[in-house]
Amino acid sequence: MLKFDFTNLFSERVFDNITIEDVKNYEEKINKIANEIDKNKPGFAEIVFSRKWIDSVLDLKDFIFEFDNLVVLGIGGSALGNIALQNTLKPFNWNFLSKEERKGKLKIFVIDNVDPDYVASILDTIDVNKTLFNVISKSGSTAEAMSNYLIARGIIETYGLDPKKHLIFTTDPEKGVLRSIANKESIRTLEIPQNVGGRFSVLTPVGLLSAYAAGIDIEALYDGAKNAYKKLLNPLFENPAALIALTHYLYYNKGRNISVMMAYSNKLYYLADWYRQLWAESLGKKFDKDGNKVKVGQTPVKALGAVDQHSQVQLYNEGPDDKIITFLKVEKFKRDIKIPHVHDEEALSYLQGSKLSTLLNNELLGTENAILEHGKPSLKITFPQIDELHVGEFFMTYELATVIAGSLFNVNPYDQPGVELGKKITYALMGRPGFEEYKINPSSERIE
Ligand code: PA5
Repeated sequence: MLKFDFTNLFSERVFDNITIEDVKNYEEKINKIANEIDKNKPGFAEIVFSRKWIDSVLDLKDFIFEFDNLVVLGIGGSALGNIALQNTLKPFNWNFLSKEERKGKLKIFVIDNVDPDYVASILDTIDVNKTLFNVISKSGSTAEAMSNYLIARGIIETYGLDPKKHLIFTTDPEKGVLRSIANKESIRTLEIPQNVGGRFSVLTPVGLLSAYAAGIDIEALYDGAKNAYKKLLNPLFENPAALIALTHYLYYNKGRNISVMMAYSNKLYYLADWYRQLWAESLGKKFDKDGNKVKVGQTPVKALGAVDQHSQVQLYNEGPDDKIITFLKVEKFKRDIKIPHVHDEEALSYLQGSKLSTLLNNELLGTENAILEHGKPSLKITFPQIDELHVGEFFMTYELATVIAGSLFNVNPYDQPGVELGKKITYALMGRPGFEEYKINPSSERIE
């Protein structure tokens, strides 16, 4: 199980600290919210108590392991879970290993942007004959995913290959262009459950296919997620998701409108990236559920220890009191390196003979204490090790925390109306029929 340490949030050394009493005052409200969530189980939680989604991926076993590469084409919630899973659970050199070293599992590439330099460099790398393209789009219409699909399909056809063999669509069970193309052309599909939105979809086939193709234990991911869900109805102080939501909410109300997630692990840094979307898109809202203009939201920021000690921590320590910091720590790294004795040099003797993991975790401890010393609040989540069980637990804990925070802020965590206008203007600029009225007009009225 993950270890959650909230002590430094309540410390009197934090100059605007919240107290245990402050939290207790919300006990009844949180119980009500948690019971409500459990009663109307959200789609992202419901799925982990069913085998349906795992089985839909396992059924493709014979098909996918014929390939050497899996290229995911998607954006936002259709890509970030894939990226987080691969970088957190596979070695960073995975795509450089031979097929034997990968034990027949696939190399995974995620194309989540329409930057031509980026897209071209990945397409240059892969042998299309040995590649399966997984086009992921819940709506089946997102411009970035669709343009990369068209490019991939163009290449497949140029090579004289059968699109039915080299494409799979992960999309809504009924709606959208991808679904209708799949129906017409009998292209294989995986369903995204209708009641799970993009940024909550990492444990649906959206994230599961690339995870399974790379040899990640997707059943253990579900076990971890279930472990997290089971804590939802715990008493408040044994309910990490509720405490994360509530403490962030209380500090937000004290002006701490930035939530930094600082991972002391290059692998966990990708969880911070996933969190960044979840917290931002779900909670940053102009209107509350009752239609009142509220303009709320806590800006999530990702940081990497120890690297950002030399970039960001000066600001965190001495800058404005607008941040609450979450440290991610690893207890036991998969690999470790002992710093060798190579010099009889007094100034370096404290390093020689130590392990890198000891240095990194001491740096975390140093930063954590310095942050407290500067009167700023932080919490710490410790991964006993980085594996499927703990990563699954992390995903579910934060999905629940986000929904609980949504209730506290009284906003709908599942919509994102603020991204629509930019999309419409892009459609207009690209000449999509029906969107002419959105063509950029420099004198257009300001949106309030
Ligand atoms: O969380 C969300 O809903 C969004 O970030 C979407 O995932 C993103 O916009 C991509 O949408 P789609 O999967 O429909 O292509």
